[in-house]
Amino acid sequence: MVTYTPSVLIHGGAGSSRPTRTQLIFLEKILCRGYALVHAGQSALTIVEEMIEALEGSGLFNAGLGSLPQLDGVQRMDASIMDGKALTAGAVANLEGYLHPINAARLVMTETDHVLIIGDSAKRLARHFALKRLPRPNKPVRPRSRSRGNPPINTRTFSLYKKMGKYGTVGAVALDLQGNLAAGASTGGVSVMFPGRVGDTPLIGSGVYADNSAGAISMTGIGESIIRMGMAKWLTELMRSGFSPSRAASHVLKELVHRIHGAAGCLVLGSKGTFTIQHTTPWMAAGHWNGKGQPIVGDRFSAPRSFSPRKA
Ligand code: GLY
Repeated sequence: MVTYTPSVLIHGGAGSSRPTRTQLIFLEKILCRGYALVHAGQSALTIVEEMIEALEGSGLFNAGLGSLPQLDGVQRMDASIMDGKALTAGAVANLEGYLHPINAARLVMTETDHVLIIGDSAKRLARHFALKRLPRPNKPVRPRSRSRGNPPINTRTFSLYKKMGKYGTVGAVALDLQGNLAAGASTGGVSVMFPGRVGDTPLIGSGVYADNSAGAISMTGIGESIIRMGMAKWLTELMRSGFSPSRAASHVLKELVHRIHGAAGCLVLGSKGTFTIQHTTPWMAAGHWNGKGQPIVGDRFSAPRSFSPRKA
């Protein structure tokens, strides 16, 4: 007897700018496609990969085609994916020139004995498997933050929120008909970043985690703060010890803000299909559907309980 509810959750980032209607409409389309794949009996892993692939290809988010450039003007992308059944995972960091870093992450998982491959080696792997390239040469692009006339980048006058820019990391989690969980995320990073900078997204246990016996997590936000708190694994362990997704997210996000003034949003899906979407930022583009009622997509979800935001 099935005692869980197959579900899909998706996000297009958390930050200081309100998501556009176009972004939300696109998220809803991909959410529905994701649930159709659940219904068709696809694995959670494939569903997560396909949903993220579509977001990367859209150019509407800070991932794949829409990736922010680093300070030398080059787009370098990070992605990871994890299978909650076998606890296998794959990731790439600082990948240049390829449209779908999430495909490269899955190949690291399935075709190598490793978890994370970076830079030129990730590029070689993508080339070896003939992954789709970005449709234009990866020529230097002016960093968006500069072209918008922001203050000098080497000062601390940027607020955390401003660092997050207009576009968001993307991610997804899914629970399939077999009761398997998977999680993934993909990003172009943050608005102001040193060349070679790597955020939470490709770090298993920070930006992403999935374990059938506990839950699946996909994070978005300021990667440095998410890494310092080891958020995805922490959330998973709280759920293993009996916390609901909502209570776990509320606890961990409050700690993130109060201890290190971090900023993040999360998709948290439990092994029975209970879930939460929470964020400490003003906005988060995200959605969920378990086949009942209508798919829900929005730009604001619950703040952590008794959360009092600190001024950035
Ligand atoms: N959360 C995405 C990043 O910090 O790179």
